[in-house]
Amino acid sequence: MNIQLTKSQIGLDGVPAAETVLSHVDGERGELIIAGDHVAELAAQSSFEGVTARLWNAATGQVLSEANVRASLGAARERAFARLPELLGAARGLSIVDGFRAGIAGLRAESGLEPEAVIVGALAVIAGALVQRATGGDAIAPERSASHAADTLSMLLGRKPAPREVAALDAYFVTVCDHGMNASTFTTRVIASTQADLFAAVTGGYCALTGPLHGGAPEPVLEMLDAIGTSERIKPWVDAALLRGERLMGFGHRIYKVRDPRADVLKAAIERLASNGADLPFASEVETYIRGALQREKPDRRLETNVEFFTAILLDALGIPRQAFTPIFAVARSAGWTAHAREQQRTGRLIRPSSLYLGPKPAHAQH
Ligand code: ACO
Repeated sequence: MNIQLTKSQIGLDGVPAAETVLSHVDGERGELIIAGDHVAELAAQSSFEGVTARLWNAATGQVLSEANVRASLGAARERAFARLPELLGAARGLSIVDGFRAGIAGLRAESGLEPEAVIVGALAVIAGALVQRATGGDAIAPERSASHAADTLSMLLGRKPAPREVAALDAYFVTVCDHGMNASTFTTRVIASTQADLFAAVTGGYCALTGPLHGGAPEPVLEMLDAIGTSERIKPWVDAALLRGERLMGFGHRIYKVRDPRADVLKAAIERLASNGADLPFASEVETYIRGALQREKPDRRLETNVEFFTAILLDALGIPRQAFTPIFAVARSAGWTAHAREQQRTGRLIRPSSLYLGPKPAHAQH
């Protein structure tokens, strides 16, 4: 009998692959809960360090405070800065996205620091150094006492950021720090399920993040907005792209069948930023047209705006180069990856699914 898997089965749609206390996504209601709170409340009330403390505590049973996490991330950034020549050595000649992968792969245990702090702290330093290197500059030294968002932004921009800029990046970090069993988190958990260490697990998670169907989308979102250029060109550009069968970046989601709740949190953060260069009215015009066009072209699908659309606009408005968008996403998501890796190691089991063999059988096979 020749049984084949359905498209949903191949993509593991709706298959729970872990028990978790970290985050929950309800795609029908457009709801995201992180460590017990809705994402909009968290983004309004919590710092990145605060939500990271909650994730790590939930995963490990520790009782870290926001101040504990802030102190350990500050120390970890300093430690990573001291190791930059080594970490960036393997990144020579690579793009920011690929150099970041090499940098993460070079991380290792540091005395007096938990691996999760080493990772989250170091990722910000590596991203900052790669961005500076891309423009011919030297890496900016971290400031231990600064918040993670403030210091990340200083290292990226090479100047002291304004409080409203720090608030915008902090809101972004909180909004995207964890998101259920997305592809990179699943990858991280698979690796952790073998009892490999957190450094290996997070390196794998980042690799999964880089694809355009996941965290690689924001740079193409900006390219799309640039290519459209003006209001008059929205309709012809979008219609032609859909006619060619292209996917429009920043739209659609495996889980959300209504609007991704993170899109509105980020849109509000962009409005508060009152920036610098973000053409929110034009982006909103493009968004409205694309939502309508997708409804018209794919009436049996429910394709809505996802988080990457407004991520692109927010990070661009902050002056972060688009080539660094995926690494910056990783800086935030590393809080979730490390928590999931810990949770998997503590409560999970080796993840080892099976496959359906469709290849040839040996000629002498009996069955
Ligand atoms: N533009 C045009 N058509 C789309 C889009 C899109 N953005 N998204 C899905 N579709 C279409 C597909 O072509 C497919 O059509 P078909 O059945 O006629 O062939 C149908 O909708 C369903 O597509 P699937 O691939 O089954 O949907 P899936 O749930 O696997 O895809 C994904 C989700 C990968 C996010 C998809 O919507 C996509 O490619 N979006 C664009 C890239 C993007 O925005 N990535 C960031 C995702 S958010 C994140 O990971 C942080």
